[in-house]
Amino acid sequence: MSSQKKILVIGSNGQIGTVLTNKLGEKYGYENVVGSDLRCPENQPKFIFEECSVLDKDQLGLIIKKYNITDVYLLAAYLSAKGEKNVNKAWDLNINGLRHILNFAKDKKIEKIFWPSSIAVFGPTTPKNNVDQYARTEPTTIYGVSKLAGESLCNYYYNKFAVDVRSIRYPGLIGWESMPGGGTTDYAVDIFHAAIKNEEYLCFLSEDRKLPMMYMNDAIKATIGIMDAPSEFIKIRTSYNLSSLNFSPKQIEEEIKKHIRNFKVSYNPDFRDQLAKDWPQSINDNHARNDWGWEPNFNLPQMVNDIILNLKNRYKKEKI
Ligand code: NAD
Ligand code: SER
Repeated sequence: MSSQKKILVIGSNGQIGTVLTNKLGEKYGYENVVGSDLRCPENQPKFIFEECSVLDKDQLGLIIKKYNITDVYLLAAYLSAKGEKNVNKAWDLNINGLRHILNFAKDKKIEKIFWPSSIAVFGPTTPKNNVDQYARTEPTTIYGVSKLAGESLCNYYYNKFAVDVRSIRYPGLIGWESMPGGGTTDYAVDIFHAAIKNEEYLCFLSEDRKLPMMYMNDAIKATIGIMDAPSEFIKIRTSYNLSSLNFSPKQIEEEIKKHIRNFKVSYNPDFRDQLAKDWPQSINDNHARNDWGWEPNFNLPQMVNDIILNLKNRYKKEKI
C-alpha cells in the first residue's frame, strides 16, 4: 500500500461531511480527498467527488481501488428521527454500510476507518448525568439500536481481524456551515437561522429538554484527533464517550437573546421530544481525554457568539 494518505468520506454532503471533507482537504491536500454521496453536491467541491451508495459494495470497491484509498470516514446514516419513520432502511444503511467498509479493511483494501456512534446508544435505564463510558446501553430508537450493534461490530472486527476502526459517540452537533438531516437535536441548528432572519422559532423539543451537545468545530477536532492518534492509544474499540456542552432549548434561547434581543421562541414538542427524553443530559468522557488527549475548545457563549457572527456574514453575503 502507498505511504500517501488517501481519504474517502462517505456521506460527504451531510451535516458533518460538508465540514469534515473540506477540513481533511485543507490538511491532506484536496487531491488526496474523495467525497462520496448519493448525489453530487450543489456547488462544485474542491475535493474529488464520486456519486455512490455505500450499499453498492462493487462500486465502492472500484472507487477504493481507483484512488488507492487508505482511510475511510463513514458518515452515511439514517439519524434518530428519520430512522423511526424508516425502520428497515435505517437498519440496512446503518449496519450494512458499516459491514461493507469493515470487510474492505479486513481484506486489506483500506487501512483505517472512522465510524461515528451516538449518545442515542443510551436509553431510559442509563443514569441521566455524568454518564460513564460503560453505563447501561438499552436504546429505544432503531437508530440507537443500530449504533449499539455497530459499536459491537467494530469491536469484533478489531479483535478478530485487527481492523483499525475508531469511533466516538457524538453528542448533538451544531454548526453554521451545513444543515442537519433528520436528527432529534436539529432544533439547535434551525433556531440560529430563525434568529438571524428575525423570525419566530417553533421548537419541537420541550423548553427544559437538556441534552449533551457540541459545536461542529469541536466535533471535527475530535474526529481528526482520534484518527491521528497512534493506534496503541485507542484502547476502546467500541466507541468513546465524548462531551463538551449540555443545555436545554430554553438555555440556548436565552444565550441567543443576548445577541438578538427581540428573538421569540415558542414550544410545541412532538415525537422527537419523546426520543430525547430517553437520552442522557450529560456525559463523562474521561477515557477519551486520558487515552488520546481529547479536549473541547468551545463553551456555550463562545459557540453562540461564533455561530451568530458567521451566519450574519453569510446571510449578508447571500443578501437573504
Ligand atoms: P446527515 O444526515 O446530515 O448526512 C448523511 C449523509 O449520508 C447525507 O448527505 C446523505 O445523502 C448520505 N447518504 C444517505 N444514504 C447514503 C448511501 N446509501 N450512500 C452514501 N451516502 C448516503 O448526517 P450527519 O449529521 O452528517 O451524521 C453523520 C454521522 O454522524 C452519522 O453516522 C450519524 O449517525 C453520526 N452522528 C451525527 C450526529 C449529529 O448531531 N449530526 C450526532 C451523533 C452521531
Ligand atoms: N444528533 C443525533 C440525532 O439527533 C444524535 O445522534 O439523531
